[in-house]
Amino acid sequence: MNRERIIKIINERHSVRQFTEKAIEETKRNSLNSLIEICNRESGLNIQLICDDPKCFDVFLAHYGKFKNAVNYIAVVGKKDLPDLEEKAGYFGERIVLFAQESGLNTCWVAGTYGKKKCKAKIAKGEKLVCVIAVGYGENPGKPHRSKSVKSICSVKEEDMPDWFKEGVDAALKAPTALNQQLFSIRLEDGEAVITAKAGPLTKIDAGIVKYNFEAASGHKVRQA
Ligand SMILES: Cc1cc2nc3c(=O)[nH]c(=O)nc-3n(C[C@H](O)[C@H](O)[C@H](O)COP(=O)(O)O)c2cc1C
Repeated sequence: MNRERIIKIINERHSVRQFTEKAIEETKRNSLNSLIEICNRESGLNIQLICDDPKCFDVFLAHYGKFKNAVNYIAVVGKKDLPDLEEKAGYFGERIVLFAQESGLNTCWVAGTYGKKKCKAKIAKGEKLVCVIAVGYGENPGKPHRSKSVKSICSVKEEDMPDWFKEGVDAALKAPTALNQQLFSIRLEDGEAVITAKAGPLTKIDAGIVKYNFEAASGHKVRQA
């Protein structure tokens, strides 16, 4: 995907919790699985696509969270001792989320409002389920979230920002974060972007997601904080 295209996809992606009954076609499942395989090879994660399983979202919390027809999900699994497990889960999961969006599917990251014990993913000894991502055909495209200002997450003055950095910050602010908390900051150091997760629950997953959005939209690698 070129940068213009990916920025468009980032702009169009919003969390969707209500899905239609339309199943994900086999060709789309296959292409999702191909990308998942690549991500697993690059990251050491064990991400799995699970389709047609109504149980995982058939729990009180999921109904409370307004999930409907959520029968397909991507389980983000990895070895507990994998370095930066949470950040990798966010980074590679978001790569899959944006690919799904480009394929005409909708998604929602879910760390809380699902049945963790009902999840059908194969979790080997020493592995853990970090979170899941619901995927399917949305009843609606979702809507943009309320966002923090550029100033509140980045101390670089807008007039001092290179264009690529501005694009990256904009895409970072459009990234999904748990409870829309946006607990991260971005700085420019020796011409490189550095993203730091603030303290809080799930902020490391968030930082991985934000990092992927930033890199994809800016075309510049983020330096490891
Ligand atoms: C790590 C993570 C965990 C999340 N967990 C849940 C969840 O348990 N239930 C839910 O309904 N939404 C969950 N979300 C979705 C967020 O609420 C959503 O991404 C945020 O409000 C921003 O909205 P947007 O995705 O439409 O941009 C989660 C998002 C992330 C990134």
